[in-house]
Amino acid sequence: MEATKPVDEAEAANGSNGAGGAALSVRDLVKTFEVGGGWLGGEKGEVSAVAGVSFDIGFGRTLGLVGESGCGKSTTARCILRLIEPTAGEVVLQRPIDDDATERIDIIASSRAEVRRLRRDMQIVFQDPFASLNPRMTVGQALREPLKVHTSMPRAEQDERVGELLRLVGLNPRIVDRYPHEFSGGQRQRIGVARALAFDPGFLVLDEPVSALDVSIQAQVLNLLDDLQQELGLTYLFIAHDLAVVRHVCDDIAVMYLGKIVERTSVERLFAESMHPYTHALLSAVPVPDPELERGRLRILLEGDVPSPLNPPPGCRFHTRCHVGRDQEVCRTTEPPLDEVSDGHWVACHFPEARQVV
Ligand SMILES: Nc1ncnc2c1ncn2[C@@H]1O[C@H](COP(=O)(O)OP(=O)(O)OP(=O)(O)O)[C@@H](O)[C@H]1O
Ligand code: SF4
Ligand SMILES: [Mg+2]
Repeated sequence: MEATKPVDEAEAANGSNGAGGAALSVRDLVKTFEVGGGWLGGEKGEVSAVAGVSFDIGFGRTLGLVGESGCGKSTTARCILRLIEPTAGEVVLQRPIDDDATERIDIIASSRAEVRRLRRDMQIVFQDPFASLNPRMTVGQALREPLKVHTSMPRAEQDERVGELLRLVGLNPRIVDRYPHEFSGGQRQRIGVARALAFDPGFLVLDEPVSALDVSIQAQVLNLLDDLQQELGLTYLFIAHDLAVVRHVCDDIAVMYLGKIVERTSVERLFAESMHPYTHALLSAVPVPDPELERGRLRILLEGDVPSPLNPPPGCRFHTRCHVGRDQEVCRTTEPPLDEVSDGHWVACHFPEARQVV
């Protein structure tokens, strides 16, 4: 692993890293939360929220991270950005420094000061834009604040940058004096995206960015994210619990279950020939617009809830809900590794079977 190379201070001062895009590599990421036993009481235990997750995202690509609530998607993202400290694993960000060279930054080995500087390059957009905007700050103040705190930009330049950011996300710069409550959900999410773009990041985590929006508005925000990716060369980790949303925005998809990736491949392949029983179940919940096709479709219902990560099932973590492996001894006792079953298609299952569900 190469040593971390700090962001150039002169570039940092004007708020730009000078080049677009980034690539991310995550290896064996683990996050275990210690719970209970404190002065609040409760039984002492360990929540296995992320249990050895690995993936790569190429320059300017989008990886969708999908799975039911509580499976560890946000915890994975927060560890990658070092918003929380991972228990183990490696995260490497690669970014261009000029036309011919890139640098590799070991995020986990970086000092706290380096991580603060890295935040310019790696940003997150949350599900609920209202919760992430201070209701007492105008849009202009909210967008200017990070520029004020992290750069030595003069006020006139800050105002210019705020106008630029608003135009970038399709908003009129004249709205700077308005407050968050004066905007619709879609407009607030655009403001959230503008704030994430303040320092020209190469990599963005989009944590359920459209889940709180009306379906009619979702497409507009997804289109905006797509346009920004083309224009700025951004790399995305797109978190969602719904496969229908990620189908049109992602290049690759990783399906997560109870802290582990169970299947990972390109979007086309996942929809054409997914192999993991959990992916089959998630896909069978994706609505199909054609009523004829909908009637003849394979239906796989997931029984029960995701088991508690405080005490995950032994063997395959999915075996308690799996219609294929529920009664198989090997599934109850032996954890299936995430194997590359064909070029670019990884599956963690003792009995993988290619199926087209949608
Ligand atoms: N600070 C914490 N302390 C203890 N457990 C936590 C903590 N943060 C998250 N968890 C647990 O870790 C697991 C994974 O949570 P996480 O928020 O990553 O899931 P998620 O896939 O993002 O779910 P959702 O779709 O609901 O956002 C959950 O069981 C959650 O309760
Ligand atoms: S390993 Fe067994 S329990 Fe796990 S998904 Fe495959 S068939 Fe189901
Ligand atoms: Mg989450």
